[in-house]
Amino acid sequence: MKKIQISPSILSADFSQLGLEITRLENAGADMIHVDVMDGHFVPNLTIGPPVIKALKNKTNIPFDVHLMISPVHKYIQAYADAGADIITIHPEATENLKASILKIKELNKKVGVSLNPETEINTIIDHLNEIDLVLIMSVNPGFGGQKFMPEVLKKIKNLKRIQEEKNINFDIEIDGGINFENYKDAIKAGANILVSGTTIFKSNNGDVKKNIELLKSE
Ligand code: DX5
Ligand code: ZN
Repeated sequence: MKKIQISPSILSADFSQLGLEITRLENAGADMIHVDVMDGHFVPNLTIGPPVIKALKNKTNIPFDVHLMISPVHKYIQAYADAGADIITIHPEATENLKASILKIKELNKKVGVSLNPETEINTIIDHLNEIDLVLIMSVNPGFGGQKFMPEVLKKIKNLKRIQEEKNINFDIEIDGGINFENYKDAIKAGANILVSGTTIFKSNNGDVKKNIELLKSE
């Protein structure tokens, strides 16, 4: 059983002091920082890009788990790698050649993730599972924090876990969207080993991020 890791999404952080927020998350026991990059084209929202990631990089020693909700994505991979991304996760719908984009990320010595939207089936990426480090299962439609968890994706995680065991391949299963204290154990039971959370970590218990991270790590 892989160690459960917590990747807080800074989409729900105080954007007027992102540097302090990132340091606060590291001190609160976060395993990595989930950075939601949105371009207003792949998703109907616009957040941050390489310059901000570069400015935040020296505020922490924990990895930047960069979720690229941008298209086209291939030509921007280098910029996010240079800015300090440690994990670069892309959506298959955002590239004309998924294999080439996966290889590009690996060439840059970054961990590669592929993200499946709620309606995107595992078959879309089945041929690439042995090339990637992480599958990011969306439990909301991407674009915004604070949305309602879609429990139907738990079946997808169970199927992915089964395929992983049948093929004996090693990759992390990360779940992203609407994770809270009521559903996180179901996500883990289904097979997720990395939990992304924005709203629950930043808004619960009067914003006590240390307590909220500990609660998401508790058995
Ligand atoms: C949504 C993002 C998620 C989101 C998670 O498009 O990919 O990472 O910020 O936030 P919560 O935990 O509030 O759903
Ligand atoms: Zn995300």
